Amino acid sequence: MVKKNTCVFISGQGTNLRNLIFHSRDNSFPVKISLVITNKKEAHGINFAKKFKIPYVFIDTTFNNYDNKILLYLKKYKISFICLAGFMKVISKNIINKYQGKIINIHPSLLPKFKGLNTFSRMLKNKEKKAGCTVHFVNAKLDSGNVIIKKNFNINNRDTEITLKNKTQKLEYRAFPEAIIRIFRNI
Ligand code: GRF
Repeated sequence: MVKKNTCVFISGQGTNLRNLIFHSRDNSFPVKISLVITNKKEAHGINFAKKFKIPYVFIDTTFNNYDNKILLYLKKYKISFICLAGFMKVISKNIINKYQGKIINIHPSLLPKFKGLNTFSRMLKNKEKKAGCTVHFVNAKLDSGNVIIKKNFNINNRDTEITLKNKTQKLEYRAFPEAIIRIFRNI
């Protein structure tokens, strides 16, 4: 099987990146993590790229032409698929147009509920019964592209923002690889 050259975009801890790297080492997994892009120099997730000898690059997304720089790197590493894993920057139209239907994101809520930031505090405030994660295609509108997979769990009255985050991330580690398998099985 020819694996798709994939770039993972991160800004923080990178635990989803680590999980995708582990999965990608399986021969039957459809993608190879060929590049990691971070817009935070100090992102802890870079350590996973280093550890597994995956090329990584820091792009300062506060500069105007940052998306052209990203596109150059994507070209250099022949990237045909992009996973956003905790990338705290809205992807520019320029990149979305060039990678139509080839960018996916993982979001810590059951979309379309709780788009954007601070999902867990808003869920608690709203007395939600269920939490979870969503993997979706990225389009020009924030957290609004077609859903590939969702996984949920019941919220109980002892849950806090921290426990919700931990439980959600456990589901994310299953949802993200499953979504990728689903996409490439259908192509
Ligand atoms: C994940 O919980 C994801 O849902 C959100 O950002 C978080 C990234 O976590 N978009 P990590 O950096 O993969 O540990």
